[in-house]
Amino acid sequence: MSPVPGTRGYAEKPEKFAKDYESVSFEKVHKPVMRFYPLDKPASILDVGAGTGRDAAALAQTGHFVDAVEPTAGMREQGQKLHAGQQINWINDSLPQLHSVVQNGKKYNLILLTAVWMHLTPEERETAMTACKSLLLPQGVMSLSLRHGPVPPDRHMFDIPDEEVIALGKTHGLQLLHHSVHKGDTLGRNDIHWSYVVFSADASR
Ligand SMILES: C[S@@+](CC[C@H](N)C(=O)[O-])C[C@H]1O[C@@H](n2cnc3c(N)ncnc32)[C@H](O)[C@@H]1O
Repeated sequence: MSPVPGTRGYAEKPEKFAKDYESVSFEKVHKPVMRFYPLDKPASILDVGAGTGRDAAALAQTGHFVDAVEPTAGMREQGQKLHAGQQINWINDSLPQLHSVVQNGKKYNLILLTAVWMHLTPEERETAMTACKSLLLPQGVMSLSLRHGPVPPDRHMFDIPDEEVIALGKTHGLQLLHHSVHKGDTLGRNDIHWSYVVFSADASR
C-alpha cells in the first residue's frame, strides 16, 4: 500500500513530534472551542490524525470512549507508549475515506480534526468532509483547527482558507457553531497561526 501523502515527514522523527505535541495540554489547544464539545456525559469521540494521542488520552482519562485514527506507525507507537495507561482504541486509517472507521459502522458525538485538514488536497477535502459527516451522530459536533502560514517545502501541506472549510461544511448540511482566528502558535513558531471551525450536525442549532 502506498504511504498516505500527508504523513510525509512524520515517520522520520516521531520522537521529536511526540515531544512537541505532548508539551502542550489538550485544554490549552482546545480552549477556544471546548465549550462546544458535548462532554457532559461519556461521549464517543473520533480523533482523526491523532498524532501521539495527547487529546485522545486527555479525553479517555475523563471517561470518554476514544477512537484515535493515525496513519503514521511511528506516531501511533509513540502514542501507545506514552499513554499506555489510557483506554484509547488506536486505528490505522486515513483521510479522506476513513475506510476502516466507516466500515466499523460506529457514529460519534465528537469528531476532532486537530491540525490535520492541512494535509489534504482540494479533492480529498471534499471526500473527507463527506466521510466525516457520515460518521457524526444526529447531534454530533465536528471541530477543525486550521494551520496558516508558510508551508514547508518538504511536506504535503496546504494553507487552506477558513472560508473554504466553512462553505464545504455548509454544503454538506452542517451548521456552523463557531469560527475564530487566533494569533500565535502553541509551539512558539512566529510565522504560524491557527483558526478554529466547529460544526454541528444538528440542523436546529
Ligand atoms: C500536525 S499532526 C497533529 C497531531 C495531533 N492531532 C495533535 O494536534 O497533536 C498531524 C497528524 O496527522 C496525520 N495525518 C497526515 N495525513 C493524514 C491523513 N490523510 N489522514 C489522517 N491523518 C493524517 C499525521 O501522521 C500526523 O500525526
